[in-house]
Amino acid sequence: MSEPPILEVRGLTKAFGRQEVLRGIDLRIPQGQTTVIIGGSGSGKSVLLKHLIGLMQPDSGEVLYRGQRVSELDDKARAAMRARFGMLFQHSALFDSMNVFDNVAFPLREHRRGLDKAEVKRLVTESLHALDLYDVEHKFPAELSGGMRKRVGLARATILKPEIILYDEPTTGLDPIMIKQVDDMIAATQARLKVTSVVISHDMASTFRIAHHVAMLFEGRIICTGTPEEVRNADIPVVQRFIHVDGTGPLTATTRSGSAAAPPAGGQL
Ligand SMILES: Nc1ncnc2c1ncn2[C@@H]1O[C@H](COP(=O)(O)OP(=O)(O)OP(=O)(O)O)[C@@H](O)[C@H]1O
Ligand SMILES: [Mg+2]
Repeated sequence: MSEPPILEVRGLTKAFGRQEVLRGIDLRIPQGQTTVIIGGSGSGKSVLLKHLIGLMQPDSGEVLYRGQRVSELDDKARAAMRARFGMLFQHSALFDSMNVFDNVAFPLREHRRGLDKAEVKRLVTESLHALDLYDVEHKFPAELSGGMRKRVGLARATILKPEIILYDEPTTGLDPIMIKQVDDMIAATQARLKVTSVVISHDMASTFRIAHHVAMLFEGRIICTGTPEEVRNADIPVVQRFIHVDGTGPLTATTRSGSAAAPPAGGQL
């Protein structure tokens, strides 16, 4: 195949107590493209993303960044790696007690201590303007709409001009117009910074709009991966059912045991 992947996961497992969440994940994230990870609620998508950025350590298996085992990096190398990642957490995770300016400036103050005030201001303003945010520097997160919070979160995630951006459900809770805007923003950011994007999504329209590659997580493993076209045509019932549950929200893990919304007609997964 072409270039080696920028991130690779091999045989990764993770359990919390007796709950085995990830049971042997194998995944390659190609550089400079957008990979969307889909899967039911509670299937372990956020847990997987946290392993990619080194916020969680696997029980077994490994994550490789540019061919290097992340677990073998020393603290300094790991901090340097982190600085090359941007992460948009589920629910944006802005600091409520900080205004927009300080939220967006936060990574600069953590990783670029030498910058003077004027330079910080210039970079924060540039990052906000790139996402169509004007005159919001003094507002607090509670004073913003959901869509604006996502964009502020993205301004913060991109301010260090990362190599890789991880988005955890960037469109959940937004209206269809805002979903389209966030999708456009992800695509534009990818083109502007030539970044590698890894996006977790519940939204199939969004997934097929932005993905170069799609990977589906189910029962702790990646059960299907490929181009959107390949995944759309995959002859795997669970995948077909997941991508065709239209308008009724995602198929949840609990659906399987019958305790949540009824599964779509057809019964067995
Ligand atoms: N730190 C933790 N300690 C214990 N259990 C955890 C922890 N983090 C996640 N889990 C469990 O792991 C499972 C997968 O969680 P995760 O947040 O990855 O799901 P998800 O696929 O992101 O779901 P959603 O789409 O709802 O965000 C859940 O059952 C969750 O309770
Ligand atoms: Mg999640």
